[in-house]
Amino acid sequence: MQIELAGIAKRFVARGRVVEALAEASLTVARGEFVALIGPSGCGKSTLLNMVAGLMRPSAGSVRYAGRAVSDVNRDVGYMTQADALLPWRTAEANVMLPLLLRGVGRQAARDRAREQLARVGLAGFADAYPRELSGGMRKRAALAQLLVYEPETLLLDEPFGALDAQLKLVLAQELAQLHARTAKTVLFVTHDLGEAIALADRVVVFTGRPGRLKRMETIELPRPRDMFRVRFEPRFQAHYESLWDALAPEIREVA
Ligand SMILES: Nc1ncnc2c1ncn2[C@@H]1O[C@H](COP(=O)(O)OP(=O)(O)OP(=O)(O)O)[C@@H](O)[C@H]1O
Ligand SMILES: [Mg+2]
Repeated sequence: MQIELAGIAKRFVARGRVVEALAEASLTVARGEFVALIGPSGCGKSTLLNMVAGLMRPSAGSVRYAGRAVSDVNRDVGYMTQADALLPWRTAEANVMLPLLLRGVGRQAARDRAREQLARVGLAGFADAYPRELSGGMRKRAALAQLLVYEPETLLLDEPFGALDAQLKLVLAQELAQLHARTAKTVLFVTHDLGEAIALADRVVVFTGRPGRLKRMETIELPRPRDMFRVRFEPRFQAHYESLWDALAPEIREVA
């Protein structure tokens, strides 16, 4: 197993306020598997990714990665957090080069790979733009390029396409699906878009409202490769959508 979460709970205590973020979540993700997490705002999805990345420790339960307990920053995962991680004083290209330079790749090779990756996310003409000169969606794409460029064995993606328009989401989802097919990376993917979760994932996990618990886990029976632009028309997609929506809708209503 690549990722093993056993009975993890997380409670935050900050300035006299106690928040039970997650309760008793158990989940395993096999090597090469693509698992999507969905649930109402504040149910602990980002917290769960933080624990897999080793940035936070659970209050109860255990987190294991590739058979080892996660007790420190987990360097085998590439983590695209919900917030923008681009450095404002570096251009898009220089930002994407950074993880390569940190891993000892030569400057010219790093530049070539950064340019190639930027082109893949549709930012070919913006290599020399600074983050402030990019739109919100373009910054997300640059951040995605920065993650994909060094090909970590596991990707933790926290709403990577959240702020993008519906068409661009499909383009990037297609890119991610192809990357997954090509490299068999393990992916843990948080989204608020149920259709996106079903289209991309091998398994979709629905969480309850806070404290987040696993409510429904469904294996997606759609053959691969999947065409992100067509997969939604398949009858099986509709069937998954309905059954997962039945689990998700009451949780969202409660938050509202
Ligand atoms: N470092 C922290 N200190 C205190 N409370 C925190 C911290 N991180 C998260 N929380 C709380 O834990 C709960 C879960 O937060 P989390 O960010 O995991 O939710 P989420 O499911 O990712 O929500 P969203 O869909 O809105 O991103 C929230 O109530 C949040 O306020
Ligand atoms: Mg979050």
